[in-house]
Amino acid sequence: MINDMNSILNSESFMALAQSRLSKMAFDYYRSGAWGEWTLQANVDAWKEISLLPRSLVDVSRRNLSCEILGMRLPFPLLIAPTAMQCMADAQGEVATARAAANAGVPMVLSSLSTRSIEDVVNASSADVVMQIYISSDRGFTKSLAQRAQAAGCKALMVTVDTPVWGVRERDIHNGFRVPDGMSIVNLQRPGQPTGHSGSGMGDALGWTIDASLTWKDLDVIRQAVNIPVMVKGILRADDAERAFDHGAAAVVVSNHGGRQLDGAAPTAHALPAIVSAVADRGPIIVDGGIRRGVDILRALAMGASAVQVGRPILWGLAAGGEAGVDRVLHILAHEFDLAMALSGCANVKSITADLIYQHA
Ligand code: FNR
Ligand code: LAC
Repeated sequence: MINDMNSILNSESFMALAQSRLSKMAFDYYRSGAWGEWTLQANVDAWKEISLLPRSLVDVSRRNLSCEILGMRLPFPLLIAPTAMQCMADAQGEVATARAAANAGVPMVLSSLSTRSIEDVVNASSADVVMQIYISSDRGFTKSLAQRAQAAGCKALMVTVDTPVWGVRERDIHNGFRVPDGMSIVNLQRPGQPTGHSGSGMGDALGWTIDASLTWKDLDVIRQAVNIPVMVKGILRADDAERAFDHGAAAVVVSNHGGRQLDGAAPTAHALPAIVSAVADRGPIIVDGGIRRGVDILRALAMGASAVQVGRPILWGLAAGGEAGVDRVLHILAHEFDLAMALSGCANVKSITADLIYQHA
């Protein structure tokens, strides 16, 4: 299996290997976007539309890829995005991902819908773990979940705000998606709640984990419950980015949930510039959606992002080879980013600036 993986040269090629190892239900759940999957595809395409103007004859013999986000030291500007139910991909699930994050030195954002407990994941490795939070109708429970994450040693929270309801992933409905037997949404288990083992599609299986009545006030409640930084994930508009910082966010994540929520939502590469113009001086701006190559990380930073998150490629690596598969995906992305910096005349991340982007006449 290791040999298989070393022959894989880019993160996209992991998808086919993952498909051969996953059940149809799991593969479809991971790969799907909402409705016609326009945004899913547009995310990937939009980065490719951004062409670069590399600088010549810069000494790039020594390169520093590292950066700092909210006190976390990153060896290169990438976080592992929160993705739910990783035990469908690997027996160790989120624990394997955390170990790979530690091997690479990058932070892991743990989904609230994980299949391993917060404590197991934090204690599995030295990785910085950020806890992603869905605010459910039981606000008291969500508040205690946030406090539990802080007590476990999570470095920050990331509240996801693009899910008043679940986007419709048609493949999940066809497949009658359900949380597989023997697995559970372990951090959210409490007496008397729906088990999530019946019905079809995300809406039926996991509708109880989110709440359509959510507003900015609810963000304040979570923020006041903890003293670790709170990031807000799922922002596509400059005015919402401003509001997030007004409500005490420490960072925003420009995201359309990997095309899984509102199909037709702008690809993140299109949404990013207005948000950078509005709030670049207020805190880090992280972007995710369709980042597949190291050069996409360079594009995002040239456009003003502080770092990127990567979702599906990590799941493909996890399904293909567990911890070693995620190691390989992270190694490929870091190596490609390093070479993209060298080829663009950038010796450090600060020199990745807007002039690297070709402006259409
Ligand atoms: C997600 N995403 C997500 N986001 C979140 O805040 N909480 C979650 O539990 C999940 N779960 C989840 C599951 C799966 C299978 C996918 C593909 C995505 C969204 C994720 O954090 C991120 O925004 C996107 O995955 C980024 O897009 P790419 O990198 O997958 O294109
Ligand atoms: C998803 C959730 C869990 O996109 O965020 O499936």
